[in-house]
Amino acid sequence: MAATIRPLGTDDTDAMAQGFRDAFGSFDPPEPPVPLHAPGKSWWGAEVDGHLAATALDRDYTSWFGGVRVPTAGIGGVSVVAEHRGEGLLAPVFDALHEAARERGALISTLFATAPAIYRRWGYESFTSLDRVRVPTAGLAVGGSTPLRRADEDDAAAIRAVHDRGVSRRNGPLSRTGPLFAEAPTLRVDGVTVAERDGVVVGYVAWDRGRGYGEGAELSVHDLEADDTDALRSLLTMLSTFASTVPSVVVRTSGIAPWRHLVGRQHATPVSSAPYAITVLDVRAFEVVPAPPGLTASLPFTVDGVTRTLEVADGRTRVVDGGAGGRELTRGGLSLTFAGAHRSADLRLAGHLDGPDADDAAWDALTLRGPLHVHDYF
Ligand SMILES: CC(C)(COP(=O)(O)OP(=O)(O)OC[C@H]1O[C@@H](n2cnc3c(N)ncnc32)[C@H](O)[C@@H]1OP(=O)(O)O)[C@@H](O)C(=O)NCCC(=O)NCCS
Repeated sequence: MAATIRPLGTDDTDAMAQGFRDAFGSFDPPEPPVPLHAPGKSWWGAEVDGHLAATALDRDYTSWFGGVRVPTAGIGGVSVVAEHRGEGLLAPVFDALHEAARERGALISTLFATAPAIYRRWGYESFTSLDRVRVPTAGLAVGGSTPLRRADEDDAAAIRAVHDRGVSRRNGPLSRTGPLFAEAPTLRVDGVTVAERDGVVVGYVAWDRGRGYGEGAELSVHDLEADDTDALRSLLTMLSTFASTVPSVVVRTSGIAPWRHLVGRQHATPVSSAPYAITVLDVRAFEVVPAPPGLTASLPFTVDGVTRTLEVADGRTRVVDGGAGGRELTRGGLSLTFAGAHRSADLRLAGHLDGPDADDAAWDALTLRGPLHVHDYF
């Protein structure tokens, strides 16, 4: 049965909605509803016998790595209608989506996979996770003297600025810039509290109070960012004041975030964890991320039978064709190398790296940039 692979538009909306109900179950739409079609969203699909049979979405994002924003294709909405599963429809849809994403300049692609094996053939490998952890509300009383107030819509730009300062120092998070983040960041939660010093917003927490009070009640924290420890302490202490009605706070977080070093009464306990995967769409991704100052190296590598060399000097990396005597990487190995998720020795253990180890220290010095995080689900 021949499938037609094509971009999807507004005429496809009803068929897409039916497919998503099949794939992900019905759910209450957010208020206001998130539009399927919007600037920054590119849908691709497969049509079989005139019916939409598969979908995938490319979101126009950028991700922070090494202090720069790397153009990213954020994948979502992957579905194949039940009657056509197992027929190999995903591959041509993904190939078309990836090609179009490269054309618009995406260098990497990321996604939250329901199963890791679905996306391995394109090199997607998990490198961090978006987690929810539960902490006792009373344990968040950790001092701080920065004045707090409830945010309003006029604070949107200042809140974004605090967020940007926080995530630009990390590796992996989305930048929350571009068409898909045009909406004010305060709209979809009960409360955003800002910490303000000398008229400057220096921290914020976005939270939902949740239902009811007493045993079982939970307050959810979606975002917690601050420029300094006093602002961070003040925001946590504000949350602690809910202790008499809400015994637990559930914080959306990633890795061991700095706030966890301030609370001491009880460890945070995991509630859920969504693994986040990356692949390299274009090896020029290595060129946009600064190299460590002082590192000079010539690093040949082969992926899918194609050999290239990273020429590292003066804080920059250039990718040149050809080279000899280098490492063999799987596509997933290339993804994990770009992300800086593992030392070379562990890539070997995972079966992603083979060949000589003389360059291992230089590869590790180039790519291990520190802890990896993600703060947005899509
Ligand atoms: C996941 C889904 C899109 C796969 O559709 P499909 O028709 O089976 O996909 P294809 O036939 O094109 O390719 C399937 C490949 O992925 C693998 N795969 C599919 N579902 C998998 C799963 N749940 N776990 C592991 N591997 C899986 C298959 O083994 C196959 O690999 P192979 O070609 O090496 O054998 C489909 O089952 C679906 O719509 N599920 C519900 C929604 C969902 O989970 N979407 C993914 C969101 S991240």
